[in-house]
This record gives sequence, C-alpha cells and structure tokens, in this order.
Amino acid sequence: MTHPWWQTAVVYQIYPRSFADSDGDGIGDLAGILERIDYLSDTLGVDAVWLSPFYPSPMADFGYDVSDYCDVDPIFGTLDDFDRLLAAAHERGLRIIIDLVPNHTSDRHPWFLESRSSRDNPKRDWYVWRDPLADGSPPNNWLSAFGGAAWEFDETTGQYYLHSFLKSQPDLNWRNPAVKEAVFDVVRFWLDRGVDGFRLDVAHFIMKDPEFRDNPPAPSFGEDFKSMGEYDTQLHLYDKGHPDVHRVFRDLRSLLDSYEGDRFSVGEVHVFDLDEWAKYYGENLDGLHMPFNFTLVWAPWGAERFRHLVDAVDGAVPEGGWPNYVLGNHDERRLVGRYGPKQARVAAMLLLTLRGAPTIYYGEELGLTQVDIPRHQQQDPWALQEPAVESRDGCRTPMPWDGSPTAGFSPPGSSDPWLPVTDEHRAMSVEAQLAEDGSMLQLYRSLLRLRRSRPELQVGDYRSLDTAEGVFAYERWGEDGRVLVALNFSDEERVVASGSGEVLLSTALDRSGPINERLILRPHEGVVLAPAG
Ligand code: NOJ
Repeated sequence: MTHPWWQTAVVYQIYPRSFADSDGDGIGDLAGILERIDYLSDTLGVDAVWLSPFYPSPMADFGYDVSDYCDVDPIFGTLDDFDRLLAAAHERGLRIIIDLVPNHTSDRHPWFLESRSSRDNPKRDWYVWRDPLADGSPPNNWLSAFGGAAWEFDETTGQYYLHSFLKSQPDLNWRNPAVKEAVFDVVRFWLDRGVDGFRLDVAHFIMKDPEFRDNPPAPSFGEDFKSMGEYDTQLHLYDKGHPDVHRVFRDLRSLLDSYEGDRFSVGEVHVFDLDEWAKYYGENLDGLHMPFNFTLVWAPWGAERFRHLVDAVDGAVPEGGWPNYVLGNHDERRLVGRYGPKQARVAAMLLLTLRGAPTIYYGEELGLTQVDIPRHQQQDPWALQEPAVESRDGCRTPMPWDGSPTAGFSPPGSSDPWLPVTDEHRAMSVEAQLAEDGSMLQLYRSLLRLRRSRPELQVGDYRSLDTAEGVFAYERWGEDGRVLVALNFSDEERVVASGSGEVLLSTALDRSGPINERLILRPHEGVVLAPAG
C-alpha cells in the first residue's frame, strides 16, 4: 500500500525569526533558512518543513498579524527568496508547508482599512461588526484569548469589531462568501507557486455562533489544564468551533485536491474533546488532512497517563484517517523546561515511534532549555498584556549553530539578536552536539534514521501493552516487521518481559544487539527492540 508523503513525513517547524539570520539584522530570514537547508535534509533528516508566518506584518504578534497574504515581509526577504528556498527544498526532497492565518488579519491589512472606513464600505461585512448594547457596552461577553474583551469600539463608525486575539488582529467574517473566496485565492496563489501544504492558524476559530450568544461560565478544570487567565472563566461554546466550520474545510479540501501532488492541510485545533476534535478530519475524511493533536502537550509526565492519552487518540482517529503527534511549538514551554532533560530524550523516542505524523519544533533536537527572558527584554504581546501568562519568548530564542558570540545565528559582528542567546544554549549548539557522542542531536538523528529504515515505524499499526509500572510500552507492526518500544518514564530501573530480541536503539545511544528474555531499562531510558522471530 502506498502512502501519501504527509503520512510518512516527519515535519520540522521553523519559527523564521529565530532560525538563521543571513543579513545580520538580528532577525532570522528566508535566506538564512536556505543557508541551513542541508542541515534539515541531511544532517537531521526530516521530510517536511513548516514555516511560521513570513508575510508582511506590523509584527504585533510576530507575523500572526498579516497585512498582505501574498508577499514576504522585508525583514524575512522577498518572494524571490521564498521561491529559491522552495526550489532548493524540493531538489532535496523536502516539502514546504506554510502558515495560513485565516481567522484574522492585521488591523493594517487593506481589507480592514476599507472595512473600518465606513459602515457602507463594500468590505464592511468582511469583518465582524456589531452595534453596542443600549448602555454602550460590547455586544456580548466574549473574551480575547490574549486578555480582556474580544470587542473593540470604533469611534468613527460607532460599532464594535471582534478580535479573538489582539485588538490589532480583527477577525474575518467567514460567513461572508467573499471572504472565503479571497482567502481561497490566497491559497491558490501559494499552491501555484508550488507549496506542498498549509498549517491553518487557529482553524477552529473561524466559525462562531451566528446568534452571538454569551458564553456560559466555565466549570473547573483538571490538573492537565494550562490556564490562560481570565479567558478560562468562560466555556467557549459560542465564540469558536461552530459546526459550520466543517463546510469550509470540505471546500478547502476540494481546492487542495484539485492540484497535483497531494497538497496538504493541518489545522491548529485546540479541541480536547476527542470526538469533537476528530470531526475536523471530515465526515468522509474530506475535511482537513489532520487536525493537530495537542493532547500530549500539557500532559503531566507519567507512563500510565501517556498510555491512556495515546490510546484515546489512536482510537479517536476515524477509520482511514491519519494520527499525528506534537510535543512542542512556538507557543509552548520547551520540552526540557516542561519535563526535564532526561525525560526529553524519552519524549523524543515517543514522538518518533508512535503511529502518525510527528512534528518537531526547531531546537528540540538540541534539547534547548526554556529561557527565562527578563521582563524588560520580553517581546511576546500576549504575556505583556496578560501577566498571568508565561511569555512565549522563552521557546523562541535564536537557534544556536556554534559557540561563537552570535552562536552562528547571525554573521559575526551583527546586531544583537531579537531575543538573547544564552551561554547555556551556545554550549548546546549544533556544532558541539555533532561532535559529541550520545548528544540529544545524535539521538534525534538516530531516531529519524531508524524511522526511515523501518516501515512498521512509519506506517505500521499500534497497540499498547501491559508491562512494568512506570513503563509505557507498545508494538508497531506491518507487513515487513515488528518492533517493540519500551519507555521508562520513572527514575528507577524497570524490567520488561520482552522476550528475546535485538536492541535497535536506546535513548542513551550506548547499546545495541541481542537481549535474552528480559529488557532491563535504566531510569529514564527508552528502547526500540526488534523481537526475535
Ligand atoms: C496561534 C499561533 O500559534 C499563535 O502564535 C498566535 O499568537 C495566535 N494563533 C494568534 O494568531
């Protein structure tokens, strides 16, 4: 059975500001990524790259506030740079997935400038405008995910507009067919240029309750829950995730399918009711190719809990649908910061051996630590506006390529990078880890090689196994073979009755070869084993 590329691919997320700065302004750019492309295709060995936004933007939310969907911000380069990067990626067999931000634009986008210019402007209805209540207050109780009310009053026209995020990120009105056509034209623009797919920012937000009902108060949440401050005082029943969203994704899928080459879509869908989440695949698998699965991102460390969650996800994916796993991204604490350095190695093995497409966030392959950025150097608008929230800057720091003062992120003698590089990160550079046996980077490289060489890891079935306490073990099997993965989540030795077999890889990278009957796992050790026979 052949599989489309996006099912077997390992995706690597690049936050363009932070990956490689070619021109020395302290901010990463597309030409910088091009300079490092062999690292992606050869040194590391991933199959696809997802680029966070590089479009013209006032950078209020570092590119998630787009003012032109069909160009490149001068900070990041030009359309020619993009075309060069895409061509070089394709020459190496690397796919390029770009970020599409459909829920909102920047308030400087020409569409919004027109929309806010008068009530009878033809683009007025491209955004969500409502009258104030009789006392002048906002039309309903909806809150911005970034703090405060989701409504901003516009003095000139006497109405409120909706912004689910910053007030400089007005929400588009997806109930207006002209908006859908305009965004689909953007999709066509990039498909025609040759991109392989799209990551859809807050995909579930685009359809709201047409009656604009108030959200009810929230119940209390469990320990897996990461609080977003005031936003979590409500149950977000009406301000996002209206079922009409699925019609849009069905149409998007038809558009993608009308192009050659398995063009792909993955939605950022923060929906944790797995039945609801699974609906984003579409009723007949005709929706998004995949909704990102964030189930493990906030899960407290523990074998039983992870097993339970993975089993639940695996079971929730509709027949014929393809699972996926994410452990980090530009919005979350670094893995090492969440669980610890030893645990991050086990997590790497988990991510790259589960059934489904994995996405690696840049720098996780180095085991980068979460950086505690002093308040006066912080940039993240969300945390600056909502102090209860941890700044996302700590996971967005420059990629350390070597131990030099600029860490090889910028050319020697450049301006300071947009976020500081720490000595700790310089010591964890790509150069240092390539020279060190057993480094985190070597572990990722080995895992990626193993995954490529073993079809059962790429496309095989999955079944979790009852085993020693504190160990999460599962089998992956297909026509060509079978492997057992055993991950010791505990800080004590554990014995797994594995039967005899051959150790293919240990997270410690210090053993391989045959074992007899029992697999003895050291604290925080994960092993991939090929069972005998
Ligand atoms: C989700 C993105 O991942 C995040 O970085 C951004 O701030 C919000 N969407 C708003 O666009």
